[in-house]
Amino acid sequence: MVISGVDVNKLADKFGTPLFVYDENAIIDKMLCYKNNFKSDLFETRVLYASKAFSCVEMIKLVKNCGLSLDVVSGGELYVAKKAGFDMSEVYFHGNNKSTDELNFALKENVGTIIVDNFCELEELKKLAEQQNKQIKVLFRLNIGVDAHTHKYISTTLFESKFGFMPNSEEFEKCLALCMGDKNVVFDGFHCHIGSQVFEINAYKLAVEKMVAVLKQFEKPLTLNIGGGFGVKYTDDDKPVETSLLCKTIIGFAESELEKQKVKIKKLLIEPGRSIVAEEGVTVYTVGYTKDIPTKSFYFVDGGMTDNIRPALYQAKYTCLISGKENLPKTKKVTVAGKCCESGDILIEDIMLPEATKGDRLVVLSTGAYGYSMSSNYNKASVPAVVFVKDGKAREVVKRQSYDDLICCDRDGEYVEIR
Ligand SMILES: Cc1ncc(COP(=O)(O)O)c(C=O)c1O
Repeated sequence: MVISGVDVNKLADKFGTPLFVYDENAIIDKMLCYKNNFKSDLFETRVLYASKAFSCVEMIKLVKNCGLSLDVVSGGELYVAKKAGFDMSEVYFHGNNKSTDELNFALKENVGTIIVDNFCELEELKKLAEQQNKQIKVLFRLNIGVDAHTHKYISTTLFESKFGFMPNSEEFEKCLALCMGDKNVVFDGFHCHIGSQVFEINAYKLAVEKMVAVLKQFEKPLTLNIGGGFGVKYTDDDKPVETSLLCKTIIGFAESELEKQKVKIKKLLIEPGRSIVAEEGVTVYTVGYTKDIPTKSFYFVDGGMTDNIRPALYQAKYTCLISGKENLPKTKKVTVAGKCCESGDILIEDIMLPEATKGDRLVVLSTGAYGYSMSSNYNKASVPAVVFVKDGKAREVVKRQSYDDLICCDRDGEYVEIR
Protein backbone atom coordinates (compact mmCIF):
# COMPACT_ATOMS: atom_id res chain seq x y z
CA MET A 1 0.00 0.00 0.00
CA VAL A 2 1.32 3.42 -1.01
CA ILE A 3 0.06 6.81 0.26
CA SER A 4 1.18 9.92 -1.60
CA GLY A 5 4.18 8.04 -2.97
CA VAL A 6 5.18 6.54 0.39
CA ASP A 7 5.20 2.79 1.05
CA VAL A 8 3.20 2.06 4.20
CA ASN A 9 5.40 -0.88 5.22
CA LYS A 10 8.47 1.35 5.12
CA LEU A 11 6.67 4.02 7.15
CA ALA A 12 5.83 1.40 9.76
CA ASP A 13 9.48 0.24 9.83
CA LYS A 14 10.65 3.80 10.40
CA PHE A 15 8.04 5.18 12.82
CA GLY A 16 6.74 2.00 14.47
CA THR A 17 3.11 0.94 14.91
CA PRO A 18 0.34 1.68 15.65
CA LEU A 19 0.82 4.70 13.43
CA PHE A 20 -1.60 7.36 12.18
CA VAL A 21 -0.74 8.34 8.61
CA TYR A 22 -2.32 11.35 6.88
CA ASP A 23 -2.07 12.39 3.25
CA GLU A 24 -1.28 16.11 3.64
CA ASN A 25 -2.19 17.06 0.05
CA ALA A 26 -5.54 15.30 0.38
CA ILE A 27 -6.37 17.28 3.56
CA ILE A 28 -5.42 20.55 1.84
CA ASP A 29 -7.45 19.67 -1.27
CA LYS A 30 -10.47 18.88 0.85
CA MET A 31 -10.25 22.16 2.76
CA LEU A 32 -9.83 24.17 -0.43
CA CYS A 33 -12.74 22.33 -2.01
CA TYR A 34 -14.94 23.39 0.92
CA LYS A 35 -13.64 26.95 0.85
CA ASN A 36 -14.00 27.42 -2.92
CA ASN A 37 -17.46 25.91 -3.21
CA PHE A 38 -19.18 27.20 -0.09
CA LYS A 39 -19.81 30.65 -1.57
CA SER A 40 -22.77 32.89 -2.22
CA ASP A 41 -23.33 36.29 -3.85
CA LEU A 42 -26.01 37.08 -1.29
CA PHE A 43 -24.13 36.73 1.99
CA GLU A 44 -20.66 36.13 3.41
CA THR A 45 -19.66 32.53 4.04
CA ARG A 46 -17.11 30.83 6.28
CA VAL A 47 -16.01 27.22 6.61
CA LEU A 48 -14.87 26.35 10.13
CA TYR A 49 -12.75 23.25 10.66
CA ALA A 50 -14.09 21.38 13.71
CA SER A 51 -10.79 20.66 15.38
CA LYS A 52 -12.20 17.97 17.68
CA ALA A 53 -11.97 15.60 14.68
CA PHE A 54 -8.18 15.81 14.69
CA SER A 55 -6.07 18.49 16.26
CA CYS A 56 -2.34 18.98 16.56
CA VAL A 57 -0.24 22.08 15.93
CA GLU A 58 0.74 21.12 12.37
CA MET A 59 -2.86 20.29 11.44
CA ILE A 60 -4.09 23.66 12.68
CA LYS A 61 -1.31 25.37 10.71
CA LEU A 62 -2.70 23.68 7.57
CA VAL A 63 -6.16 25.02 8.45
CA LYS A 64 -4.68 28.50 8.90
CA ASN A 65 -2.80 28.33 5.57
CA CYS A 66 -5.91 27.19 3.72
CA GLY A 67 -7.83 30.19 5.10
CA LEU A 68 -10.52 28.31 7.02
CA SER A 69 -11.85 29.42 10.40
CA LEU A 70 -11.67 27.18 13.45
CA ASP A 71 -14.13 25.51 15.83
CA VAL A 72 -12.65 24.67 19.24
CA VAL A 73 -14.44 23.05 22.13
CA SER A 74 -12.04 23.30 25.05
CA GLY A 75 -9.20 25.31 26.51
CA GLY A 76 -6.88 22.60 25.23
CA GLU A 77 -8.02 22.94 21.62
CA LEU A 78 -7.79 26.71 21.99
CA TYR A 79 -4.24 26.35 23.25
CA VAL A 80 -3.29 24.28 20.18
CA ALA A 81 -4.79 27.04 17.98
CA LYS A 82 -2.72 29.63 19.83
CA LYS A 83 0.45 27.57 19.42
CA ALA A 84 -0.30 27.22 15.68
CA GLY A 85 -0.51 31.03 15.43
CA PHE A 86 -4.18 30.94 14.43
CA ASP A 87 -5.98 34.28 13.99
CA MET A 88 -8.08 34.29 17.17
CA SER A 89 -10.78 36.50 15.64
CA GLU A 90 -11.58 33.51 13.39
CA VAL A 91 -11.95 31.07 16.29
CA TYR A 92 -15.41 29.91 17.41
CA PHE A 93 -15.51 28.45 20.92
CA HIS A 94 -18.11 25.71 21.50
CA GLY A 95 -19.08 23.54 24.46
CA ASN A 96 -21.95 23.11 26.89
CA ASN A 97 -19.90 23.56 30.06
CA LYS A 98 -16.98 25.89 29.45
CA SER A 99 -15.23 26.56 32.72
CA THR A 100 -14.50 30.02 34.11
CA ASP A 101 -10.82 29.45 33.29
CA GLU A 102 -11.65 28.50 29.70
CA LEU A 103 -13.88 31.56 29.23
CA ASN A 104 -11.22 33.83 30.75
CA PHE A 105 -8.61 32.26 28.46
CA ALA A 106 -10.84 32.88 25.42
CA LEU A 107 -11.42 36.50 26.43
CA LYS A 108 -7.74 37.12 27.12
CA GLU A 109 -6.80 35.70 23.70
CA ASN A 110 -9.51 37.79 21.97
CA VAL A 111 -11.37 34.78 20.55
CA GLY A 112 -13.86 36.06 17.96
CA THR A 113 -17.04 34.22 18.88
CA ILE A 114 -18.40 32.13 21.73
CA ILE A 115 -21.20 29.71 20.94
CA VAL A 116 -23.31 29.93 24.06
CA ASP A 117 -25.05 26.75 25.17
CA ASN A 118 -27.17 28.01 28.06
CA PHE A 119 -28.19 31.05 30.09
CA CYS A 120 -25.89 30.28 33.06
CA GLU A 121 -22.92 30.28 30.70
CA LEU A 122 -24.00 33.58 29.18
CA GLU A 123 -24.30 35.19 32.63
CA GLU A 124 -20.82 33.96 33.49
CA LEU A 125 -19.39 35.19 30.18
CA LYS A 126 -20.96 38.63 30.62
CA LYS A 127 -19.48 38.94 34.12
CA LEU A 128 -16.01 37.89 32.95
CA ALA A 129 -16.10 40.09 29.84
CA GLU A 130 -16.99 43.07 32.06
CA GLN A 131 -14.10 42.23 34.39
CA GLN A 132 -11.64 42.01 31.49
CA ASN A 133 -13.26 44.97 29.74
CA LYS A 134 -13.60 42.93 26.57
CA GLN A 135 -16.25 42.77 23.88
CA ILE A 136 -17.10 39.37 22.40
CA LYS A 137 -19.61 38.12 19.84
CA VAL A 138 -21.98 35.33 20.85
CA LEU A 139 -24.05 32.86 18.86
CA PHE A 140 -26.76 30.90 20.66
CA ARG A 141 -26.81 27.16 20.12
CA LEU A 142 -30.34 26.07 19.28
CA ASN A 143 -31.91 22.66 19.53
CA ILE A 144 -34.29 22.56 16.57
CA GLY A 145 -35.37 18.92 16.91
CA VAL A 146 -34.11 17.71 13.53
CA ASP A 147 -33.50 13.98 13.59
CA ALA A 148 -30.48 13.35 11.38
CA HIS A 149 -30.93 9.55 11.43
CA THR A 150 -27.53 8.81 12.84
CA HIS A 151 -26.37 6.94 15.94
CA LYS A 152 -27.98 8.15 19.19
CA TYR A 153 -24.63 9.21 20.69
CA ILE A 154 -23.71 11.38 17.71
CA SER A 155 -27.16 12.74 17.05
CA THR A 156 -27.27 16.07 18.83
CA THR A 157 -30.60 17.67 18.05
CA LEU A 158 -33.17 15.26 19.42
CA PHE A 159 -35.19 17.20 21.97
CA GLU A 160 -33.64 15.51 25.00
CA SER A 161 -30.09 16.29 23.78
CA LYS A 162 -27.82 18.05 26.26
CA PHE A 163 -26.85 20.70 23.69
CA GLY A 164 -28.42 24.12 23.28
CA PHE A 165 -31.98 25.26 23.93
CA MET A 166 -35.16 25.46 21.93
CA PRO A 167 -36.16 28.51 19.89
CA ASN A 168 -38.55 30.84 21.72
CA SER A 169 -38.16 28.88 24.97
CA GLU A 170 -37.76 30.67 28.29
CA GLU A 171 -33.97 30.12 28.06
CA PHE A 172 -33.98 31.69 24.58
CA GLU A 173 -35.84 34.80 25.75
CA LYS A 174 -33.63 35.17 28.82
CA CYS A 175 -30.45 34.96 26.71
CA LEU A 176 -31.69 37.57 24.26
CA ALA A 177 -32.76 39.88 27.06
CA LEU A 178 -29.36 39.60 28.72
CA CYS A 179 -27.57 40.65 25.52
CA MET A 180 -29.96 43.49 24.75
CA GLY A 181 -27.89 46.67 24.62
CA ASP A 182 -25.00 44.99 26.43
CA LYS A 183 -21.62 46.42 25.53
CA ASN A 184 -19.59 43.32 26.43
CA VAL A 185 -21.53 40.43 24.90
CA VAL A 186 -22.73 41.16 21.39
CA PHE A 187 -25.50 38.91 20.11
CA ASP A 188 -24.55 37.91 16.54
CA GLY A 189 -26.85 35.02 15.60
CA PHE A 190 -27.58 31.34 15.97
CA HIS A 191 -25.96 27.95 15.67
CA CYS A 192 -27.26 24.44 15.30
CA HIS A 193 -25.60 21.07 14.70
CA ILE A 194 -27.92 18.24 13.78
CA GLY A 195 -25.58 15.29 14.28
CA SER A 196 -22.62 13.52 12.76
CA GLN A 197 -22.04 11.08 9.92
CA VAL A 198 -25.18 12.46 8.28
CA PHE A 199 -25.90 11.31 4.72
CA GLU A 200 -29.39 12.71 4.33
CA ILE A 201 -28.68 16.10 2.85
CA ASN A 202 -32.36 17.00 3.22
CA ALA A 203 -31.83 17.03 6.96
CA TYR A 204 -29.83 20.23 6.38
CA LYS A 205 -32.70 21.66 4.31
CA LEU A 206 -34.99 21.14 7.25
CA ALA A 207 -32.41 22.68 9.59
CA VAL A 208 -32.05 25.73 7.34
CA GLU A 209 -35.85 26.16 7.16
CA LYS A 210 -36.16 26.04 10.92
CA MET A 211 -33.23 28.35 11.55
CA VAL A 212 -34.40 30.92 8.98
CA ALA A 213 -37.82 30.91 10.64
CA VAL A 214 -36.08 31.86 13.90
CA LEU A 215 -34.07 34.61 12.18
CA LYS A 216 -37.25 36.08 10.74
CA GLN A 217 -38.04 37.64 14.13
CA PHE A 218 -34.96 39.86 13.90
CA GLU A 219 -34.63 42.96 11.76
CA LYS A 220 -30.85 43.04 11.72
CA PRO A 221 -29.08 40.51 9.42
CA LEU A 222 -27.44 37.94 11.70
CA THR A 223 -24.94 35.08 11.43
CA LEU A 224 -26.29 31.59 10.85
CA ASN A 225 -24.10 28.60 11.65
CA ILE A 226 -25.59 25.27 10.61
CA GLY A 227 -22.86 23.05 12.03
CA GLY A 228 -21.07 20.08 10.51
CA GLY A 229 -21.61 16.34 10.53
CA PHE A 230 -21.31 15.59 6.82
CA GLY A 231 -21.00 11.84 6.30
CA VAL A 232 -17.85 10.08 5.09
CA LYS A 233 -17.03 6.69 3.61
CA TYR A 234 -15.86 4.21 6.22
CA THR A 235 -17.06 1.14 4.31
CA ASP A 236 -18.69 0.47 0.94
CA ASP A 237 -22.10 0.86 2.61
CA ASP A 238 -21.44 4.59 3.14
CA LYS A 239 -22.35 6.86 0.24
CA PRO A 240 -21.28 10.40 1.08
CA VAL A 241 -22.28 13.37 -1.04
CA GLU A 242 -19.29 14.76 -2.91
CA THR A 243 -17.97 17.92 -1.21
CA SER A 244 -18.48 20.53 -3.94
CA LEU A 245 -22.02 19.26 -4.57
CA LEU A 246 -22.70 19.26 -0.82
CA CYS A 247 -21.53 22.88 -0.50
CA LYS A 248 -23.51 24.08 -3.49
CA THR A 249 -26.63 22.25 -2.33
CA ILE A 250 -26.49 23.79 1.14
CA ILE A 251 -25.89 27.25 -0.27
CA GLY A 252 -28.86 26.63 -2.58
CA PHE A 253 -31.06 25.58 0.38
CA ALA A 254 -30.07 28.74 2.25
CA GLU A 255 -30.53 31.14 -0.68
CA SER A 256 -33.96 29.82 -1.59
CA GLU A 257 -35.18 29.63 2.00
CA LEU A 258 -34.02 33.19 2.74
CA GLU A 259 -35.80 34.37 -0.38
CA LYS A 260 -38.95 32.42 0.50
CA GLN A 261 -39.15 33.70 4.06
CA LYS A 262 -37.89 37.19 3.07
CA VAL A 263 -35.00 37.10 5.51
CA LYS A 264 -31.50 38.54 5.14
CA ILE A 265 -28.43 37.12 6.85
CA LYS A 266 -24.97 38.54 7.30
CA LYS A 267 -23.00 35.29 7.18
CA LEU A 268 -23.56 31.56 6.70
CA LEU A 269 -21.18 29.15 8.43
CA ILE A 270 -20.61 25.41 8.30
CA GLU A 271 -18.24 23.46 10.52
CA PRO A 272 -17.09 20.15 9.03
CA GLY A 273 -14.59 18.08 10.99
CA ARG A 274 -14.77 14.40 10.04
CA SER A 275 -15.28 15.08 6.33
CA ILE A 276 -12.00 17.02 6.16
CA VAL A 277 -9.78 14.40 7.77
CA ALA A 278 -11.47 10.98 8.06
CA GLU A 279 -10.75 9.51 4.62
CA GLU A 280 -7.41 11.31 4.51
CA GLY A 281 -5.99 9.22 7.38
CA VAL A 282 -5.32 5.54 8.07
CA THR A 283 -4.00 3.58 11.03
CA VAL A 284 -1.20 1.10 10.45
CA TYR A 285 -0.94 -1.79 12.92
CA THR A 286 1.33 -4.79 13.15
CA VAL A 287 -0.39 -8.15 13.35
CA GLY A 288 0.74 -10.10 16.41
CA TYR A 289 -0.81 -13.46 17.08
CA THR A 290 -3.68 -15.03 15.20
CA LYS A 291 -6.14 -17.41 16.84
CA ASP A 292 -8.93 -19.72 15.73
CA ILE A 293 -11.67 -20.61 18.17
CA PRO A 294 -14.61 -22.86 17.16
CA THR A 295 -16.82 -19.92 16.17
CA LYS A 296 -14.33 -17.26 15.09
CA SER A 297 -10.86 -16.41 13.90
CA PHE A 298 -8.93 -13.49 15.30
CA TYR A 299 -6.14 -11.29 14.02
CA PHE A 300 -4.72 -9.44 17.01
CA VAL A 301 -3.13 -6.03 16.37
CA ASP A 302 -0.82 -3.90 18.50
CA GLY A 303 -3.39 -1.13 19.17
CA GLY A 304 -7.15 -1.14 19.47
CA MET A 305 -9.72 0.82 21.46
CA THR A 306 -6.98 3.07 22.86
CA ASP A 307 -6.34 4.55 19.39
CA ASN A 308 -9.84 4.00 17.96
CA ILE A 309 -12.67 3.94 20.47
CA ARG A 310 -15.38 4.42 17.84
CA PRO A 311 -16.24 0.74 17.22
CA ALA A 312 -16.62 0.13 20.98
CA LEU A 313 -18.39 3.45 21.62
CA TYR A 314 -20.93 3.48 18.81
CA GLN A 315 -20.49 0.30 16.82
CA ALA A 316 -18.68 2.20 14.08
CA LYS A 317 -17.74 0.07 11.08
CA TYR A 318 -14.39 0.13 9.30
CA THR A 319 -12.62 -1.75 6.58
CA CYS A 320 -8.97 -2.76 6.36
CA LEU A 321 -6.35 -4.42 4.21
CA ILE A 322 -3.06 -6.15 4.72
CA SER A 323 -0.29 -4.10 3.21
CA GLY A 324 1.55 -6.07 0.50
CA LYS A 325 -1.26 -8.67 0.34
CA GLU A 326 -3.86 -6.47 -1.34
CA ASN A 327 -4.05 -8.75 -4.36
CA LEU A 328 -4.20 -12.07 -2.51
CA PRO A 329 -7.56 -13.83 -2.28
CA LYS A 330 -9.61 -12.93 0.79
CA THR A 331 -10.15 -16.44 1.99
CA LYS A 332 -10.51 -16.00 5.73
CA LYS A 333 -13.33 -14.48 7.74
CA VAL A 334 -11.69 -12.80 10.72
CA THR A 335 -12.31 -10.41 13.56
CA VAL A 336 -9.62 -7.78 14.03
CA ALA A 337 -9.15 -7.30 17.76
CA GLY A 338 -6.96 -4.97 19.78
CA LYS A 339 -4.71 -5.77 22.71
CA CYS A 340 -6.65 -4.13 25.54
CA CYS A 341 -8.01 -6.05 28.46
CA GLU A 342 -11.63 -5.55 27.34
CA SER A 343 -13.86 -7.99 25.44
CA GLY A 344 -15.26 -4.99 23.56
CA ASP A 345 -11.85 -4.12 22.16
CA ILE A 346 -12.78 -5.19 18.65
CA LEU A 347 -11.86 -2.99 15.69
CA ILE A 348 -13.59 -4.88 12.88
CA GLU A 349 -15.94 -7.82 13.25
CA ASP A 350 -16.17 -10.53 10.56
CA ILE A 351 -14.23 -9.19 7.62
CA MET A 352 -12.85 -11.28 4.74
CA LEU A 353 -9.04 -10.96 4.56
CA PRO A 354 -6.10 -12.93 3.17
CA GLU A 355 -4.18 -15.24 5.51
CA ALA A 356 -2.01 -13.08 7.77
CA THR A 357 1.06 -13.92 9.77
CA LYS A 358 2.88 -12.26 12.64
CA GLY A 359 4.56 -9.07 11.48
CA ASP A 360 2.14 -8.25 8.66
CA ARG A 361 0.99 -4.63 8.52
CA LEU A 362 -2.78 -4.30 8.80
CA VAL A 363 -4.10 -0.92 7.65
CA VAL A 364 -7.51 0.31 8.85
CA LEU A 365 -8.89 2.87 6.40
CA SER A 366 -10.66 6.20 7.06
CA THR A 367 -9.43 6.59 10.64
CA GLY A 368 -8.38 10.23 10.26
CA ALA A 369 -11.26 11.61 12.35
CA TYR A 370 -11.92 10.91 16.03
CA GLY A 371 -9.16 8.28 16.18
CA TYR A 372 -6.10 10.11 17.41
CA SER A 373 -8.28 12.80 18.99
CA MET A 374 -10.20 10.26 21.11
CA SER A 375 -7.21 8.11 21.96
CA SER A 376 -6.45 7.20 25.56
CA ASN A 377 -3.80 5.72 27.80
CA TYR A 378 -6.03 2.89 29.02
CA ASN A 379 -3.90 -0.13 30.00
CA LYS A 380 -1.07 2.44 29.92
CA ALA A 381 -1.00 2.24 26.14
CA SER A 382 1.11 4.92 24.49
CA VAL A 383 -0.73 7.28 22.15
CA PRO A 384 0.67 6.50 18.67
CA ALA A 385 2.76 8.81 16.53
CA VAL A 386 1.15 10.77 13.71
CA VAL A 387 2.90 11.31 10.39
CA PHE A 388 1.97 13.43 7.39
CA VAL A 389 3.03 12.15 3.98
CA LYS A 390 3.41 14.21 0.86
CA ASP A 391 5.01 13.58 -2.55
CA GLY A 392 7.07 10.58 -1.50
CA LYS A 393 8.20 12.05 1.85
CA ALA A 394 7.01 11.71 5.44
CA ARG A 395 7.21 14.00 8.46
CA GLU A 396 6.35 13.29 12.05
CA VAL A 397 3.80 15.75 13.44
CA VAL A 398 3.12 14.01 16.77
CA LYS A 399 5.68 11.78 18.39
CA ARG A 400 4.74 8.44 19.93
CA GLN A 401 4.40 8.63 23.72
CA SER A 402 7.26 6.95 25.52
CA TYR A 403 6.91 5.03 28.79
CA ASP A 404 8.38 8.13 30.48
CA ASP A 405 5.64 10.26 28.92
CA LEU A 406 3.13 7.90 30.52
CA ILE A 407 4.31 8.75 34.01
CA CYS A 408 5.41 12.35 33.45
CA CYS A 409 2.47 13.68 35.49
CA ASP A 410 2.83 11.13 38.31
CA ARG A 411 3.95 12.65 41.64
CA ASP A 412 4.93 11.31 45.04
CA GLY A 413 3.13 14.24 46.70
CA GLU A 414 3.36 14.78 50.43
CA TYR A 415 0.21 15.06 52.50
CA VAL A 416 -0.60 18.71 53.16
CA GLU A 417 -3.17 20.08 55.56
CA ILE A 418 -6.36 21.18 53.71
CA ARG A 419 -8.33 23.69 55.78
C1 LIG B 1 -21.00 21.71 17.28
C2 LIG B 1 -20.30 20.80 16.37
N1 LIG B 1 -19.86 21.28 15.19
C3 LIG B 1 -19.18 20.48 14.33
C4 LIG B 1 -18.94 19.16 14.62
C5 LIG B 1 -18.19 18.34 13.63
O1 LIG B 1 -18.89 17.22 13.23
P1 LIG B 1 -18.24 16.28 12.13
O2 LIG B 1 -16.84 16.00 12.56
O3 LIG B 1 -19.09 15.07 12.10
O4 LIG B 1 -18.26 17.07 10.84
C6 LIG B 1 -19.39 18.62 15.83
C7 LIG B 1 -19.14 17.22 16.17
O5 LIG B 1 -19.44 16.70 17.20
C8 LIG B 1 -20.09 19.47 16.72
O6 LIG B 1 -20.54 19.02 17.90
